[in-house]
Amino acid sequence: MIQQRIEELRRRLEHHNRKYYVENAPEISDFEFDALMRELQDLEAAHPEFADPSSPTMRVGSDSTAEFRTVRHRFPMQSLGNTYSLDELHEFIERIERETGPAEFVCELKFDGTAISLTYEHGRLERAVTRGDGEAGDDVTANVRTVRSVPLRLEGEGWPELFEIRGEILMPYASFDRLNAEREAAGEPLFANPRNAAAGTLKQQSSAVVARRGLDCTLYQLAGDELPFTNHWESLAQAREWGFKVSDQARICRSAAEIDTFIGHWDEARRQLPFPTDGVVVKVNDFALRRRLGATAKAPKWAVAYKFKAEQALTRLAGIDFQVGRTGAVTPVANLDPVLLAGTTVRRATLHNAEQMAQLDIRPGDMVYVEKGGEIIPKITGVELAMRPADSRPFVYIDRCPECGTPLVRYESEAKHYCPNQSGCRPQIIGRIIHFIRRKAMDIEGLGEETVELLYENGLLHDVSDLYDLRTEQLAPLPRLGEKSAENIVRSIERSKQVPFHRVLFGLGIRFVGETTAKYLAEHFRTLDAVMHASREELVEADEVGGKIADAVLDYFADEDNLRIIGRLRDAGLRFEAEARERFSETLAGKSFVISGKFRDHTRDELKALIEGHGGRNLAAVSGNADYLVAGENMGPAKLRKAEKLGIRIISEAEFAALLDGDAPQTARDAASDEEPKKNGDTQDTRIPEAADGAKTAAPAPSDSAAEPASGSAANPPRQGELF
Ligand code: IVH
Repeated sequence: MIQQRIEELRRRLEHHNRKYYVENAPEISDFEFDALMRELQDLEAAHPEFADPSSPTMRVGSDSTAEFRTVRHRFPMQSLGNTYSLDELHEFIERIERETGPAEFVCELKFDGTAISLTYEHGRLERAVTRGDGEAGDDVTANVRTVRSVPLRLEGEGWPELFEIRGEILMPYASFDRLNAEREAAGEPLFANPRNAAAGTLKQQSSAVVARRGLDCTLYQLAGDELPFTNHWESLAQAREWGFKVSDQARICRSAAEIDTFIGHWDEARRQLPFPTDGVVVKVNDFALRRRLGATAKAPKWAVAYKFKAEQALTRLAGIDFQVGRTGAVTPVANLDPVLLAGTTVRRATLHNAEQMAQLDIRPGDMVYVEKGGEIIPKITGVELAMRPADSRPFVYIDRCPECGTPLVRYESEAKHYCPNQSGCRPQIIGRIIHFIRRKAMDIEGLGEETVELLYENGLLHDVSDLYDLRTEQLAPLPRLGEKSAENIVRSIERSKQVPFHRVLFGLGIRFVGETTAKYLAEHFRTLDAVMHASREELVEADEVGGKIADAVLDYFADEDNLRIIGRLRDAGLRFEAEARERFSETLAGKSFVISGKFRDHTRDELKALIEGHGGRNLAAVSGNADYLVAGENMGPAKLRKAEKLGIRIISEAEFAALLDGDAPQTARDAASDEEPKKNGDTQDTRIPEAADGAKTAAPAPSDSAAEPASGSAANPPRQGELF
């Protein structure tokens, strides 16, 4: 039975998912996992009637952009009192023990991410809500479903029918570094630390983007009406059994000395952890005791956070440099007298931008505090004014490019200054060439930063299009090169003409067009000409492309110099077209489709790829030539009316999936032609998508009203003190 196979695949995939992401002990290879996943995806596409939001296939996310709903927490999400002082921590312990006698404490790491509350009903993840103001937060369920360590369905048994579990959404350092590297390549602003990156990612409109960002989730607190535990330790152990990722660094401590040892250990050992932490949380273990201790308006009295001190050092600001990036962005950089900080010698630190410098009133010659907190790049957090030299003068920010002298500009809503002299400013020119040749773009081997500079100095390279005119005889006589390297370079440049279109597009260095966006643009528009001639409205039709990216693309192609370079690259024979899509079948042969709106299981471009892959044709607009309008959410009513008027068959995403399965309803054009009518023919049935989908997709959580009582409603008043 299909349904049983689907169920089995879901169970197995969730099991292996847990082994991999929660327990770090995979039992099957990635390849085997992918094969099971593909089988499930195919079955679900063919049988939309078995759709389930808890299916592991949902973890890839979708691009539907919904404003986040505000959801009231059934139990408020309190904050924690915190301290940087061990003395204060000892007072906290003494206060409790004075009242209750010797107590047991659970010490946990304080995870440095963003708080989340997960609601499970009948063992399934129903809702994920951010902390918000503690009373109500944002419903980010679609995004949290993509976090692999969050179980969509629970394992084991004995879980309450309805409960919440709370914890932290984290971005591990590895994901953070990868994300920032991608953003840097795309000329996008970097996230300052993994906490901001995790919070920012959770608020992404597209869960498909979230899915790729590598978030993790650690849980540390249960909340519910009648939870079957008497203490915290037990509840953590049980949560682990149900499939949640629960930290195994937690310990039971029975004295201040034991707590100090735990803190002392992790203050150092946390540097080896793959995710960020900023302290230790000390919690009373026993729930009865917790109830006795109670809470203040904001925080429980039975727990406290001890925060690690960010390591700091005091050193002299010897001078300030300004770096100009390939996009023209100017970054002030502090040159420091070398100082040892968290195990490394720090010589430079970022000063971010003019505003931040003005806020600190920072001046060359000052003694400054340097910190390495969650941030990777050290930053200057303050000036020791008592040590300021008597002759010090306020620092005046530069108003001309330090490289080419052009007056700097500031764009609206951007903190940085920019040098607008794109075509004449050395670091911008060299930066663009280096971006173009990098591995993920044109992958031209043998050419590094130094060689690019050498060629530029020797007048052989002014922009990326010059690369394709380089000859061995020109390169060989240059210092450090020689015949062999010269040949290698020329061969590698020649080979780059075969690089696929999306990498060429990435290599052009259009602002905000990173590797992934370039892929989406290429997939959607198929040719460089189509990208070049697209209007703003057309650009934002592509997956993952918003107004900011669209504007950057328009700006890029409005520039004469860029058009000249593109002309030369075209003459050189670079690939300006995406490869033809693979044909899987002829199921949709002779059928034309219009895709409109947002979909749950696929992006628009995925649907288009499916249509072409199965022999169909995509049309840009609703016209008499269309057979089907695949209608998603938020589709314009005018389009819908036009399609109805033309008798175009309007189908939902689920019905489209059924079509692929060969289950084709008849269209108006079928009826008008002499062909044999197909099965299920019903030309009158132009149901609107909501109605068509509603029956098939899982109904919204029946518990909505129970989980979100109006504030203080009689049926479900907000409760306090039931957080165990
Ligand atoms: S317990 C009522 N445990 O710290 C207290 N919180 O400063 C519930 N946090 O909002 C929180 N690690 O986001 C708890 N092991 C841990 C934690 C932790 C990080 C965060 C949490 C909370 C914030 C309070």
